[in-house]
Amino acid sequence: MASTRRVAVVTGSNKGIGFGIVRGLCKTFNGDVYLTARNEGLGRKAVEDLKKEGLNPLFHQLDISDSTSIQNLKAFLQKQYGGLDVLVNNAGIAYKGNSTAPFAEQAEVTLKVNFWDTLAVCEAFYPLLRPHARVVNVSSLTSTMAFSRCSDSLKAKIKNPNIAMTQLKDLMREFEAVAKSDTVEENGWPKWAYAVSKIGVRVMSYIQAKAFAHDSSRPDIIVNSCCPGYVSTDMSSHKGTKTIDEGAVTPLYLALLPPNVESPKGEFVSEKVVEHWQN
Ligand SMILES: NC(=O)c1ccc[n+]([C@@H]2O[C@H](COP(=O)([O-])OP(=O)(O)OC[C@H]3O[C@@H](n4cnc5c(N)ncnc54)[C@H](OP(=O)(O)O)[C@@H]3O)[C@@H](O)[C@H]2O)c1
Repeated sequence: MASTRRVAVVTGSNKGIGFGIVRGLCKTFNGDVYLTARNEGLGRKAVEDLKKEGLNPLFHQLDISDSTSIQNLKAFLQKQYGGLDVLVNNAGIAYKGNSTAPFAEQAEVTLKVNFWDTLAVCEAFYPLLRPHARVVNVSSLTSTMAFSRCSDSLKAKIKNPNIAMTQLKDLMREFEAVAKSDTVEENGWPKWAYAVSKIGVRVMSYIQAKAFAHDSSRPDIIVNSCCPGYVSTDMSSHKGTKTIDEGAVTPLYLALLPPNVESPKGEFVSEKVVEHWQN
């Protein structure tokens, strides 16, 4: 029979900010904490490293780009715990600024992992969320910068308070299409695939939070997105100014929001403060 023990899952947590989030959850979350990684060897090594610090994370394989892997973890959580209490969608990728990969490829691959695969994890795991569950989708302040470079008509669509998931998906598909035809800027988008993918994550979180707010069968499930800050990781080529533990502060704050808080809900949060789209 499934345990009713509380359980937290962090995607892409064998290194970087995700590893810092797992470390923080092990110290503060009342329940089991799963460090997940697409590469089992790297994930188990990361678990061992935290065990040397006296912490006790558990491991499960998860490649967010592999639907079988997502379904395996879902089945495991259902069987072992009968639900899920904290989900941190941290896994993500970014091409380096000096990448010579064609922009169309960068757009397709970056949106696939950061937007579409993150959405697939949400769609698979959301039915498991118990009342008072917390979801943190790791976005980035680059979303704000990219938004400021979008056309007025795109800005209006992105910040439409009534935007539906189908409309958000259409926007992301539109970006992929104009990237393919090399007409990104003519169509009002910034030529910045990573930041556009993080606009997607931010708006996705807003839409999901609204849906949960209307679900009286599972009260007090909260979804937010956040920026961890500029963090020294492989992604930032270790140019970031924050340590991974400093980068974990805002994601941890959102993952551990106490029961029945009024805010933040469906917000984008940076340095524990709600940020709005700027023109
Ligand atoms: N660093 C910053 O300054 C910064 C700023 C703003 C936002 N962020 C966001 O913070 C999050 C963490 O970034 P980071 O800087 O810690 O990057 P990182 O050091 O490159 O770590 C990224 C993690 O995501 C994992 N990952 C990538 N694709 C995956 C997949 N398909 N399935 C499962 N895991 C996958 C990586 O696994 P592998 O080891 O197997 O590659 C790795 O564990 C990302 O969403 C990033 O966009 C970072």
